[in-house]
Amino acid sequence: MTDLATMRDTALARIEEAGDAAALEALRVEFLGKQGSISALMKTLGKMSPEERQSEAPKIQALRTDVADALAARKDAIDGAALEARLATETLDLTLPAPHAPRGSVHPVSQVMDELAEIFADLGFSVATGPEIEDDWHNFTALNMAETHPARAMHDTFYFPDVDSEGRRMLLRTHTSPVQIRSMVQQGAPIRIIAPGRVYRSDSDATHTPMFHQVEGLVIDKGIHLGHLKWTLETFLKAFFERDDIVLRLRPSYFPFTEPSVEVDVGWQDVGGRRVLGGDGDAPGHGWMELLGSGMVNARVIEFAGLDPKEWQGFAFGVGVDRLAMLKYGMDDLRAFFDGDQRWLDHYGFSPFDQPTLSAGVGAKA
Ligand code: PHE
Repeated sequence: MTDLATMRDTALARIEEAGDAAALEALRVEFLGKQGSISALMKTLGKMSPEERQSEAPKIQALRTDVADALAARKDAIDGAALEARLATETLDLTLPAPHAPRGSVHPVSQVMDELAEIFADLGFSVATGPEIEDDWHNFTALNMAETHPARAMHDTFYFPDVDSEGRRMLLRTHTSPVQIRSMVQQGAPIRIIAPGRVYRSDSDATHTPMFHQVEGLVIDKGIHLGHLKWTLETFLKAFFERDDIVLRLRPSYFPFTEPSVEVDVGWQDVGGRRVLGGDGDAPGHGWMELLGSGMVNARVIEFAGLDPKEWQGFAFGVGVDRLAMLKYGMDDLRAFFDGDQRWLDHYGFSPFDQPTLSAGVGAKA
């Protein structure tokens, strides 16, 4: 009869020496498989007398358990070692560039608004905002356009059908000028703000969309005159178009909320059949293009906003942000700005890393 203790020692020693999962599996089959040596021992129990079986069965069961436990323990050790070995060879280099993935881009309108904020921040202006759903008083009346004023008709206003609880007629603001009123009422004077945002007019063709963007400028202080307006616009446009040869032409104009009112043209020149801003608009091959409306804030508007026009004066201007973007970055159809076409954005959009700064230039990098 096989000595169980010897069998156990031999089995455990061989299990301990098994070098890999395959060798261990072979041992499992050899000991515990259907034809295995320990399985064979189990079968001998059937031929024993009850007394013999009573003394032998626990020993054989114990042998079987010991061998099974040893197999399991060795399997854990082999698996653990294999994992350690794999981890040691698999390294992750975090300095490698990330794989290419689709990236979003910054819309030219957002880019230009950021550029404007950067330029005007340097001149001491802060950014103000107002609601796009405006009331009649802020959009028109306080800007010196009484109910019957003919200039109201020029705005192609979207009105809401009902009046609000206070009897006010609500509308989609037709320009950013109501932010002038809101800023004066809220902050008092002095003021230096720009107010970029969406405006709405019932109008649509290649250069007009029912929604577009303006930026308003407002300065209220003591002793402000037209010279301050001209210098500010010149400084802004030179910084924005990144050219020192930007020349402005100021023409008398009319807005109810400014007096005097000044239409500002910017000189362009023909460069290989393309109109490029810069240069003296009166020279041959040069010309002027209308760019923005401006003027000294009408004394009545300052009064409407609750300030004393004898103490405070100022200037204001309004310019189309989309138009500035088209002139600077060369798009020719405004409607494409609002189509949400990914291909248009891939072409005209900007990297989120292109933060406009005065030190690096407010324009987009190549
Ligand atoms: N609000 C005017 C417009 O939309 C522009 C403007 C703003 C003119 C400020 C003068 C002063 O046409």
